[in-house]
Amino acid sequence: MPLLLAGCGGVQNTLNPHSHPAADIANLFWWVMGVSFGGLALVSGLMVAAWFARGRSGTRRHPGDQGGERLGNRVVVALGVVVPLCLLCALFVVSDTMVINVTEAPAASSTSLTVDAIGHQWYWEFRYPGTRAVTADEMHIPVDTRVNLVATTADVIHSFWVPTLNRKIDTIPGQRNRILLYSNALGTFRGQCAEYCGLQHAHMAFIVVVQTRRAFRAWLADQAADARPPATPAEKAGQRVFLDGACSSCHTIRGTSASGTIGPDLTHLASRSWLAGLVVPNRPGYLAGWIVDSQHIKPGNDMPDLSLPGPQLRELVAYLESLR
Ligand code: CUA
Repeated sequence: MPLLLAGCGGVQNTLNPHSHPAADIANLFWWVMGVSFGGLALVSGLMVAAWFARGRSGTRRHPGDQGGERLGNRVVVALGVVVPLCLLCALFVVSDTMVINVTEAPAASSTSLTVDAIGHQWYWEFRYPGTRAVTADEMHIPVDTRVNLVATTADVIHSFWVPTLNRKIDTIPGQRNRILLYSNALGTFRGQCAEYCGLQHAHMAFIVVVQTRRAFRAWLADQAADARPPATPAEKAGQRVFLDGACSSCHTIRGTSASGTIGPDLTHLASRSWLAGLVVPNRPGYLAGWIVDSQHIKPGNDMPDLSLPGPQLRELVAYLESLR
């Protein structure tokens, strides 16, 4: 029981909705639970009552009592077949129509913002069409705004799921699936890849930061801009390490010659709270650890371990952590 309850609550709780689709899903869950437990209580009650009744009258049968037997059969058919069949059909129809209605893709004209979520083994890339903003593992949306989320994949099937905001939606190769993303509350909500996609499927999480519209506009403008040029000598040296070494063949930093597309866009890496699909926080020590030993932290990911001498590693980290 404690194990079961440990699954309740927490940051990815479908029963703690922050949007109307998620609230409808939670309500449906409680209705189905209520009806199911009502049925269970009724059947259990009847069984207990029958047990007590038999205990009183013994198990003797009355050979001439055909009327009583017919009545008994009718009760069994009604309560055991007809009532459950009707209830299950009703639940099926109600839940299907409701889920389809509240979670269907929004009409494009009813949304004021589109965000592309692109699944990669194993991180999420987010693009904001109409701007140059590209980020990873952390998407921002404005509060009380209907967002048209377009889910695609760069490789295998993943599934985009923010349990507090809506149902999950799969990313299928060659297909653009859409869902309404909406939040009626400010805050940070955790999402997770919900379709097994390989070794590090569990480490393919992301956050949705819900901001005021003004804060969101400022964030988007920052993300769309080119990277800030290095300012200190260490940052300048770090940029040279990045551009001359292996980093730039896999990563993009807009405003520099680095334009690799295998790993996440790092143009504004320092503005993000996490690294590597929310595996480690984005702090200098963790970043350095990730650069030299990412295969230990997240085995199987595409990042090679870079054995850099200490001073170069410090400069590289100083540069990356300056990319606000
Ligand atoms: Cu991506 Cu599981």
